[in-house]
Amino acid sequence: MNKKLGLTALGASLALTLAACGGEGAGSNTNTADADPSDLSIGVSMPTETSERWIADGENVESQLEEAGYTVDLQFAGDDIPTQAQQIDQMIVEGADALIVAAIDGTALSSQLQAAADQGIPVISYDRLIRETENVDFYVSFDNFRVGEAQGTALLTGLGVTDEEGNPTGVTGPFNIELFAGSLDDNNAGFFFDGAMSVIQPYIDNGTLVVKSGQTSIEQAATLRWSQETAQRRMEDLLTSSYNDGSVVNGVLSPYDGISRGIITALQNAGYGPTQDAQPRPMPAITGQDAEIASVKLIADGVQDSTIFKDTRLLAEQAVAAATAYLEEEEPEANDTETYDNGVKVVPAYLLPVETVYQDDIESVLIESEYYTAEEVAAGQSD
Ligand code: GAL
Repeated sequence: MNKKLGLTALGASLALTLAACGGEGAGSNTNTADADPSDLSIGVSMPTETSERWIADGENVESQLEEAGYTVDLQFAGDDIPTQAQQIDQMIVEGADALIVAAIDGTALSSQLQAAADQGIPVISYDRLIRETENVDFYVSFDNFRVGEAQGTALLTGLGVTDEEGNPTGVTGPFNIELFAGSLDDNNAGFFFDGAMSVIQPYIDNGTLVVKSGQTSIEQAATLRWSQETAQRRMEDLLTSSYNDGSVVNGVLSPYDGISRGIITALQNAGYGPTQDAQPRPMPAITGQDAEIASVKLIADGVQDSTIFKDTRLLAEQAVAAATAYLEEEEPEANDTETYDNGVKVVPAYLLPVETVYQDDIESVLIESEYYTAEEVAAGQSD
């Protein structure tokens, strides 16, 4: 159970408040427990509006905080590191009482977070771990290694090498695959890749899977800023360099739906597909993540094979619960206090489970949970 701070601590924070009022002039961030929520403001910093998932995250966090009565300052940083730093600076100057941050580059916000800490502003790291600073209080995310394992299993399932539970079917290929990873400045990228490789590597070792390009390290597979265009270019290069001998790609490990869409475009331009059933060159089995609506339609249409669903409504709930706990001078509830070492300390985390979505699961996982309507899936666009 969470405990309210003792009287001594309250007394100390009152003294700090008085000191801050006398000296700094900026908004007080102590004794928020006694404040009316509408007098408290929460800064929410999201990386980019070019990806549908982060728009949904931002809106979910904003609406849930507003329902709880708080004032919200939601900003998107256009995937530009200085913009994100400047937006967070501004939130602090304007007296934010708590910050929820999904960082573009997990190591680039140290001076902003020092300023937050100096003013007693709690910082919640949202989905991506903020690294190399002690000034991050809590982490809300999904089980990111498990995301990678699920992607690895989905690739094997798509190739027919295992069933959905990962049990071998006896199919031994060999199948040509290529590997994509996320942005190396995002702490999650390593978890996804390592989780996937933990499942895939044995099948590379026994010859069932062949990475024809030979590009098997995360550095070779990485995609800066998770960019769809960068992924498309790399897939085009791989096709030119490694598949100009008449051989075909059978599967692609992709860590994120935007990257998958870039890979699909490159493959379609090279005569694959358009679907996984098409002849003479079927679309390979391609994985993904985030269940972005454009990609869910591609899965419904038989183009992309799978995605990993992370219910951003639940992630927003955890972020709001953590922010609320801090503002009530309590400790948020963690369910993982070991995994997420940010280079300076292990950050207490609340991790949510994930679910693999193949074509057959769209109805039961995404539509029945009201994440999307059937119309949105058919249109490939959400309202
Ligand atoms: C990661 C996140 C993924 C995906 C990716 C690209 O940090 O965990 O779900 O959204 O960024 O935006």
